Amino acid sequence: MLEARSLTKLYGAHKALDQLELTVEEGEVFCLLGANGAGKTTTINLFLDFLQPSSGQALIQGKSVQEPASKHLLAYIPETVMLYASLTGIENLDYFSRLAIGRKNRKEDLKDLLIRAGLPAEAATKPVSNYSKGMRQKVGIAIAMAKGARALLLDEPTSGLDPQAANEFATLMEAQRALGTAILMTTHDLFLAKQIGTRVGIMSQGRLLSCFATAGVDHVELERVYLDTIGSRMKL
Ligand SMILES: Nc1ncnc2c1ncn2[C@@H]1O[C@H](COP(=O)(O)OP(=O)(O)OP(=O)(O)O)[C@@H](O)[C@H]1O
Ligand SMILES: [Mg+2]
Repeated sequence: MLEARSLTKLYGAHKALDQLELTVEEGEVFCLLGANGAGKTTTINLFLDFLQPSSGQALIQGKSVQEPASKHLLAYIPETVMLYASLTGIENLDYFSRLAIGRKNRKEDLKDLLIRAGLPAEAATKPVSNYSKGMRQKVGIAIAMAKGARALLLDEPTSGLDPQAANEFATLMEAQRALGTAILMTTHDLFLAKQIGTRVGIMSQGRLLSCFATAGVDHVELERVYLDTIGSRMKL
């Protein structure tokens, strides 16, 4: 579904991303781990076509993400979902889903989507100015669901979420994964990566150093592999 082929981003002589090779299949949650400045956000931004690659390609369903026809397949959930504060959850979902799919959904269907994304029913008709970060994120997930996105891209989605909200987020991602969505996310939370990732990749200084299935490791082992991988790179 998502594929990076020798994907590279240079800033002058600095390699922010160095020949990334990566595939995320349908029904897979791939968590990118790595120290600050490793190239995780750069990877997400290249898949979103927010950045132009210096060389290589970012593909979705075999099409370049730079092709307009690929845009409807992707949804992005930023760390802070930007919504219109004075509009309700339903009104925001109505507005953004109409922008994405070009047609209006029935109000009951919009409310149903918000509830499926985990928003309490009574919140859906209240202005989002009163929403917590986790609630805004749920509206973002509902927008992605309304769009029928086949791939979700998320950059540090649980930073600043309390443990309960982070756990609700994990449950939502599991539901999306079960529907066959390909999910690529960055995180610094090894516990979350083990909980919801089917595979993890460890990045350092623009390179993907290690990539493995989470099923074979427990949380303690994942932490050890992470520290060993990053540590050995830092010594170079
Ligand atoms: N616009 C830019 N101009 C120059 N260098 C940049 C630019 N954007 C990012 N970089 C550099 O690219 C590298 C990768 O940055 P990136 O934001 O992808 O890291 P990250 O892994 O997301 O880090 P973090 O965990 O802190 O979010 C860093 O060295 C960063 O300084
Ligand atoms: Mg980042």
